[in-house]
Amino acid sequence: MYSIEFKTKNKGKAGQFYMLSVPGVGEAPISVASGSGRRLVFTIRSIGTVTARMKGSKSVGLRGPYGTYWPWKDNDEIVAVAGGIGVPPIRSLIEEMEDSKMTERLEVLYGARSPSDIVYKNQFKEWKKDLDIHITVDKGDSEWKGSVGFVPSLLKDSHFSKNAALFVIGPPLMMMNTVKEALKLGYKDDRIFLSLERRMECGIGVCGHCNVGQYYACESGPIFNYSTVKGEQELFL
Ligand SMILES: Cc1cc2nc3c(=O)[nH]c(=O)nc-3n(C[C@H](O)[C@H](O)[C@H](O)COP(=O)(O)OP(=O)(O)OC[C@H]3O[C@@H](n4cnc5c(N)ncnc54)[C@H](O)[C@@H]3O)c2cc1C
Ligand code: FES
Repeated sequence: MYSIEFKTKNKGKAGQFYMLSVPGVGEAPISVASGSGRRLVFTIRSIGTVTARMKGSKSVGLRGPYGTYWPWKDNDEIVAVAGGIGVPPIRSLIEEMEDSKMTERLEVLYGARSPSDIVYKNQFKEWKKDLDIHITVDKGDSEWKGSVGFVPSLLKDSHFSKNAALFVIGPPLMMMNTVKEALKLGYKDDRIFLSLERRMECGIGVCGHCNVGQYYACESGPIFNYSTVKGEQELFL
């Protein structure tokens, strides 16, 4: 994982994404990880052509912001459930809510495969001083004293009511299991918001590459209300 920082006033909102490009190589949609101050930060996992070439590249193009954002201003209680490397849009959510002094409305549940896979380890230590954050790992190590288990299992211990909004982001299986657990615990469909990733080309609703059933993830998403998309095929890809 690596981070790229731009100095710009154009910062986007937590949950939105930008198209980042390497000239002559291609573009990739990347979520806003931090938009505090005049900085715009992205955290990127190098998995293929563009993301590998972007690392260390002196000229990276930027267009956006695109897509929908976490509707935190509309909700008094929010449980953000993040898995694996899906955590950058939760970092920007935390920062936006910190800037508005609203973090008492937020609880964060985060799951990683192992202690060494925890993204933003140092930031999490800082955030923990003021924020209700619970971290679990699939498999601990000799030094890990925290919770072991999958992140959906933390949901039952949330101190918020079942009317809280759930913001869910992470690998497809983790998201699917989080939704199942939430429904079992009594959360309603329309209180669940999912960030759905799809392969994207244009990012602006033109090329038709990013379908979530009848919707385009770049335009109507990436943040969808579960009650809107729950009937769509192959929701958790
Ligand atoms: C809205 C949105 C926000 C994103 N935010 C981030 C982020 O903050 N940080 C980050 O590291 N990544 C993020 N991604 C994923 C990132 O866009 C892809 O990893 C990137 O486009 C891969 O491009 P590449 O050229 O490096 O890989 P490629 O060479 O195109 O592909 C490498 C491998 O990855 C698979 N792959 C590529 N894109 C995806 C995808 N979207 N879903 C599943 N598999 C894929 C390919 O099938 C292939 O197996 C986001 C994606 C979306 C749609
Ligand atoms: S990426 Fe082209 S329509 Fe969504």
